[in-house]
Amino acid sequence: MSVRTPAEGDRPVTTTTLRARKAASQRIVMITAYDASSARIAEAAGVDAILVGDSLGMTVLGFDSTIPVTMDDMVRATSAVTRIARRALVVADLPFMSYQASVDDALRNAGRLMSEGGAGAVKLEGGAVVAETVRRLTAAGIPVMGHVGLTPQSVHQLGGYRVQAKDAPAAERLLDDCCALQDAGAFAVVLECIPAEIAAIASAELYIPTIGIGAGAGCDGEVQVFHDLLGFGGDFTPRHAKRYAELGEAAREAVAAYAADVRMGTFPGEEQTTHIDAAALGEVRARREGSVRRISGR
Ligand code: KIV
Repeated sequence: MSVRTPAEGDRPVTTTTLRARKAASQRIVMITAYDASSARIAEAAGVDAILVGDSLGMTVLGFDSTIPVTMDDMVRATSAVTRIARRALVVADLPFMSYQASVDDALRNAGRLMSEGGAGAVKLEGGAVVAETVRRLTAAGIPVMGHVGLTPQSVHQLGGYRVQAKDAPAAERLLDDCCALQDAGAFAVVLECIPAEIAAIASAELYIPTIGIGAGAGCDGEVQVFHDLLGFGGDFTPRHAKRYAELGEAAREAVAAYAADVRMGTFPGEEQTTHIDAAALGEVRARREGSVRRISGR
């Protein structure tokens, strides 16, 4: 695998850039972001692509799955991210039931993520069953990223968050799904929680990039959830993630220190305080004395 040249560094990343990266065996880096602050960090760190994932249902909104996430949630988060991200390609998730019922729904909702949210592409879950939708979206000028393997919007059908494609028929179905997405015009496909060997076969067979999460090191790129990498999502860390920081603990300590300062009267201090000049203050006091009605007992 080679390393990106600095000259490439400032140009906005497009779906074409990602295809070129695969052709040049340069790995693609993607991370989720859901608001201006996470987007600012991802962008400053130089990632190639930002996923406004419907995982925001868990990381930001406090649900225990992605199922309750709405189009309005996604549009709001996507527009916050695209206000900040200037270089990274921003891909926004189509949430549960925003594309499954009809192609018209998919077109209207993907259109919202692009026109109101400013996304550069959308992502949806499923293989051959969504191929026609992918075809219609791409024909309408909307770049689509596929997502197969563990598809969290189907968690109830899958019986939990489990590794997928573990036996030969399931692995073959997954590989066929990848081909169906590519044939339908998807520009990339996320492979979530599948055996590394199957991800490596998919990556070798497809000309579009594969982006892994819990799919081993043989994919063309990797995506991870911001909160998982930074220790910002509570005690649980999925097996496929690695904590690069303990920001949750650092943030708890900082807020506790703030609370202690306020309670002790040591914050705000002189540095955080502004003053009015003495003459103006004297005037205010004199006027107040002349005009304030005294209420008996106070
Ligand atoms: O919503 C999300 O964060 C995702 C990634 C896990 C791929 O879809």
